[in-house]
Amino acid sequence: MSNSIKLAILGLGTVGTGVINLINDNLDELKRRSGRNIIITEVGTRRQRDDIDPDIIQNSDLMAIAASENVDIVIEVIGGTTLAKDVIMHAIKNGKHVVTANKALLAEYGNEIFAFAEANNVHVAYEAAVAGGIPIIKVMREALAANKIDWLAGIINGTGNFIMTEMRDKGRPFADVLNEAQELGYAEADPTFDVEGIDAAHKLALLASIAFGIPLQFDKVYCEGITGITLQDVNYAEELGYRIKHLGFAVRRDGQGDNNAAGIELRVHPTLIPQDALLANVNGVKNAVLVNSHPLGQTLYCGDGAGAGATASAVMADVMDLVRVLGSTDNDDQSSNNENNHGHHVPHLAFIPEQLSDTPILRAEQMTTGYYLRVHANDNPGVLADITRILSDAGINIDAILQKPAHKVGQVPVIILTLPVVESQMNLAIEKIEKLDTITDKVVRIRLDELA
Ligand code: HSE
Repeated sequence: MSNSIKLAILGLGTVGTGVINLINDNLDELKRRSGRNIIITEVGTRRQRDDIDPDIIQNSDLMAIAASENVDIVIEVIGGTTLAKDVIMHAIKNGKHVVTANKALLAEYGNEIFAFAEANNVHVAYEAAVAGGIPIIKVMREALAANKIDWLAGIINGTGNFIMTEMRDKGRPFADVLNEAQELGYAEADPTFDVEGIDAAHKLALLASIAFGIPLQFDKVYCEGITGITLQDVNYAEELGYRIKHLGFAVRRDGQGDNNAAGIELRVHPTLIPQDALLANVNGVKNAVLVNSHPLGQTLYCGDGAGAGATASAVMADVMDLVRVLGSTDNDDQSSNNENNHGHHVPHLAFIPEQLSDTPILRAEQMTTGYYLRVHANDNPGVLADITRILSDAGINIDAILQKPAHKVGQVPVIILTLPVVESQMNLAIEKIEKLDTITDKVVRIRLDELA
C-alpha cells in the first residue's frame, strides 16, 4: 500500500477528536476496505496539543492547510459560517475534496459551495451534517434513487430529543437536561440552535433538497422550538394516545382539495404523533428519519444523532467514498484520475444541478396539519358549544375532545384534537375563539400528525 491518502482535520473539538480516535481504533479495517493507507498529515488547531501524534503537523493557519501539498482531503469540523466557509472555498480552489459536518454552513451557503465544487471537479461530502451517525444522506442520494419521495419526517436533533425524553420519563427540569447534553458533547456551540429548532431546520433544508431535487432554501423553513412545551401538554397528549416529539417535516403537496396550494412544506415544530408509531419510541439522543416514497413505501432510519463516535463514523464514511474517487493504488497521476472519477460521483443534491426544480416552498399559513388545542374556558353553560361551533363553521373536523370536571375550580382546560386543516383556517378559528368572553387565555396549539 504505497499510495497513501493524506487527511487534514480542521478543528479538534468533540468531532475532530472523535475522527482521530476512530482512525486509530479502526485503521486495519479502513486499509482492508479501501486498499489504501489513510494517514492524518495535518491538523488545524488554535493551540498546540501534546496529545497528538508528533508526526502530524499542527498548524493554526487553516488556509495554509487547505492549500497544502501534503493534503488530499480536508475534513472541516470547526463549525460556524465565516472562517469555515473561507477555508472550504480555499480547499476547493486548491483541488481538495472536502468532508464537512457543518449543516449550518451548507444550509445557508450550500448552493454556492456545491456549484464551486462542481466547477473545480471536487466533491464536498456531508453525511455527518444530518442525523449524526445515521447514513441518511447516502440512503437518500443512492439507495432511494429510483423512488419518488412524497414526504419525510424526522427527529433530527439529538439534544432536543434527549431533553424531551428526560422531561417526559423523569420529570427533570429543562435547564438541567440541557446542561447534561452540553457536557456529553451533543449540543451546538449555541444551544438555542438545538432547542429553538434552528439546527433541525438546517438539516431539514438539506434533506428536502435531496428528497425533491430543489435548491437549498433554509430561509423558507418554518421553525418552532420546544421551549414552550409544558409537562401539562405532554400529559394530556399521553392521555389521548399521543406523544410530543420535535420533528422536521418535508412534504410534497399536489394542491388537491379545498384551500390546498401546490408546493413543498418545510417545517420544524413540536408534534403530537401516535404513541405506537415507531418515531414516538425513538428516545434519548437517538435520531430517526421516516421516508415515504413511491413505490417503496415507508422506511425508517434510526441511530445516534449526536456525539463523537456517531459523527466520526459519518465523517469517515465520506472519507472512504472519496478515497475511492481518488483512484487506485497503482495510479500515480492523482489529479487526472480525480477529475475522471468525479464525473461518476452522485451529484451533491442527488439530482443533476441543471435539473433542480423551482417548485415553490409553501408559506406557514398554506401548510396543512392536524392540531392539538388547549383552550382555557370559564365553566359556563354553552362555552363548549361556542368553541365547537366556531371550529365547525371553519370546516374544521374535531377528532377528539377532553375536559376534566370543572365545577370545583370554575375554570379548566378543554383539549381538542382536529383532523388536518390549512393553517390559515385554523388561525381564523383561533382568533374567534380567543374573542369569546368565556375564554381566559391564549389558545395553546401544537401540530398533530398521524404519520400515515
Ligand atoms: N447539536 C446537534 C444535535 C449535534 O443535538 O443533534 C448533531 O448535529
